[in-house]
Amino acid sequence: MEYDLNINGEQRRVDVDGDTPLLWVIRDVLGMYGTKYGCGIAQCGACTVHIDGEAARSCQTLVESVGSSAIMTIEAIHTTTNGRKIQKAWQDLDVVQCGYCQSGQIMSAAALLSETPIPTDADIDNAMSGNICRCGTYVRIREAIRHAATLDGNAKQGG
Ligand code: FES
Ligand code: FES
Repeated sequence: MEYDLNINGEQRRVDVDGDTPLLWVIRDVLGMYGTKYGCGIAQCGACTVHIDGEAARSCQTLVESVGSSAIMTIEAIHTTTNGRKIQKAWQDLDVVQCGYCQSGQIMSAAALLSETPIPTDADIDNAMSGNICRCGTYVRIREAIRHAATLDGNAKQGG
């Protein structure tokens, strides 16, 4: 069956079964590999994307359930103010270790800042608790989110 997805600001038509997880559509059909597969059962957060601005586990989101909602993946997060803040903070604090979990971490963190521009530690723990990092970067992630909340979202990355 054909589905017209609104993904990263573009309309993309895909021809898949309705019960296909969105993660497979993003990776295998649309060829965007930034969103990762970890557990497949909504327990690790590696597959996190935004659906209408909220963090969602794409491994447990069936493509038929998405409708016309706006999907955003890590490939487009730099187009948002909060995404730029988070990415800059990640660079400033050198958060990443192996990197596998990090696109999901960034998507969850960006969604948190959109909802709560100055998050408390409890807000951060609550928003990030579903994102597992085998490398244990949790302390730097928490600091980077605090740092991101102080940044100008129009600042250039990498500087
Ligand atoms: S792969 Fe989706 S939560 Fe782990
Ligand atoms: S940086 Fe390696 S799993 Fe998180």
